[in-house]
Amino acid sequence: MLDQIQRTADFIKEKTNFDAEYGIVLGSGLGGLVNKIEKLSELSYSSIPGFPESTVHGHAGKFIFGKLGKTNVAVMAGRFHFYEGWTMEQVVFPIRVMKYMGINKLILSNAAGGMNINFQVGDLMIIDDHINLMPTNPLIGKNYDTLGPRFPDMSAPYDADLIKQAKAIADAKNIRCHIGVYAAVSGPCFETRAEYKYLRTIGADVVGMSTVPEVIAARHMGMNCFAMSIVTDLGGFPDVQTVSHEEVLKVANEAEVKMSAIVAEMLS
Ligand code: HPA
Repeated sequence: MLDQIQRTADFIKEKTNFDAEYGIVLGSGLGGLVNKIEKLSELSYSSIPGFPESTVHGHAGKFIFGKLGKTNVAVMAGRFHFYEGWTMEQVVFPIRVMKYMGINKLILSNAAGGMNINFQVGDLMIIDDHINLMPTNPLIGKNYDTLGPRFPDMSAPYDADLIKQAKAIADAKNIRCHIGVYAAVSGPCFETRAEYKYLRTIGADVVGMSTVPEVIAARHMGMNCFAMSIVTDLGGFPDVQTVSHEEVLKVANEAEVKMSAIVAEMLS
């Protein structure tokens, strides 16, 4: 596995001749940040040896390399979800490749359902902790000691300084932005009413189907992580509302400018 990670990282380096400081993973409907990037090159996932190919509607499936403000970034427009049938090893493969490309800082975004009673559709939430409810973990199996320890610490997966900085930027811009806990589930079903209530009860503010495996793999390798959710729907409230992927994408697209503005300022 390590050989494949190295080969893919070498391939990308050779094609792009580019050193990125930050890796950015853009979630469903959240590709707009790409428009703020001074693009130097891009690679579709299908052209990268060893890469899975994203299949979900709303996920473009390419790596974009360029500058966001003064910062060199490698942006993944589209990610690999466990519910698509990829193994956890495949889901986190690009994160490991980024590490091998010399990237040590990771920013991730996602669309999520909100359970916190103070949240509204379209709000942002900076993730300061998570609950992994996926049926498995990307680190199960042989541990690669060159990547990280067998039993990695997860007491603070998200970088406290970046959280503080992002919150200050959001407040200054009058953007509704919470700080809270993301619960990761496998999907692909959205939650039942009872599941949303359960998730709220165990301390989650939002729920989604991504991000946590990537953060686990990144923390395993000692990468700094920052992640943000857009609340695209609400669950576990007395007035029951249906959720659809179309609605999730629509809200994500609309709220995306707020998230992009915060990330752009963080890296400027
Ligand atoms: N649940 C799980 N994943 C999601 C949701 C949700 O309500 N909204 C967007 N992604």
